[in-house]
Amino acid sequence: MLNHKTVEKNSILMVILVLIVVSIGGIIEIAPLFYLESTIEKVKGMRPYSPLELAGRDIYIREGCYNCHSQMVRPLRDEAERYGHYSLAAESMYDHPFQWGSKRTGPDLARVGGRYSDEWHTTHMKNPRDVVPESIMPGYPFLATTALEIPDIKGNLIANQMVGVPYTDEMVEKAAADLKTQVDPDADDVDGLLERYPKAQVRDFDGNPELLSEMDALIAYLQMMGTLVEFTSYDADANKR
Ligand code: HEC
Repeated sequence: MLNHKTVEKNSILMVILVLIVVSIGGIIEIAPLFYLESTIEKVKGMRPYSPLELAGRDIYIREGCYNCHSQMVRPLRDEAERYGHYSLAAESMYDHPFQWGSKRTGPDLARVGGRYSDEWHTTHMKNPRDVVPESIMPGYPFLATTALEIPDIKGNLIANQMVGVPYTDEMVEKAAADLKTQVDPDADDVDGLLERYPKAQVRDFDGNPELLSEMDALIAYLQMMGTLVEFTSYDADANKR
């Protein structure tokens, strides 16, 4: 019979039983979170990234920008005063993977959208020292001359759909066209793009309308960051009062 003495004398058996007990506890704690509607508080304004923003995000990840930049304003007074409203869980709900980061060699970027002009970003990305003389950030001049090549943007949206990003079938269908429309204010379906992706910024971002470059995508992504949620109408403390 398996009594307590047997368990205490047999360390392997003890370890196995401990693991079983701990994992039951773990499952009970963690599993419901996947089914709870309210794990992430819904916030007005959050929407899936437009195809161009998504492409820019992929470049951000490819170039390892997250090694020096975080995307999470912590709820501390000095952070909120420097960067703006602290980050909400909902703001990263469509990020797979999230870009919170663990190191700030450079400033947090969660609220960088709209802070600088496109021209500033283009100059800064090519050679940061041209606008911030003491900067230690590396330059990425090749982004401006590299055509944005995405063999299957539809596939990118579908992959995101599979992990829970609510891209509609229409968004998937029009992904390739939307990608190009966002850099061309004269394109046919700008209204459609804005309906699918409210607040999407439509213009040539890198100052070179001849080429849809990787720079266009990256700057579209940077200029969107932190601009989707309307913080003037959102008061996180309202519930507490
Ligand atoms: C080696 C670390 C490092 C890497 C890698 C890096 N940065 Fe930076 N970044 C910095 C530093 C330091 C600053 C502050 C000085 C400056 O503005 O150049 C900065 C500033 C910035 C700013 C201005 C932020 C503000 O609020 O003033 C942006 C935007 C930015 N980086 C974007 C990027 C992007 C996009 C990438 C990837 C393509 C990237 N950085 C890669 C270190 C880095």
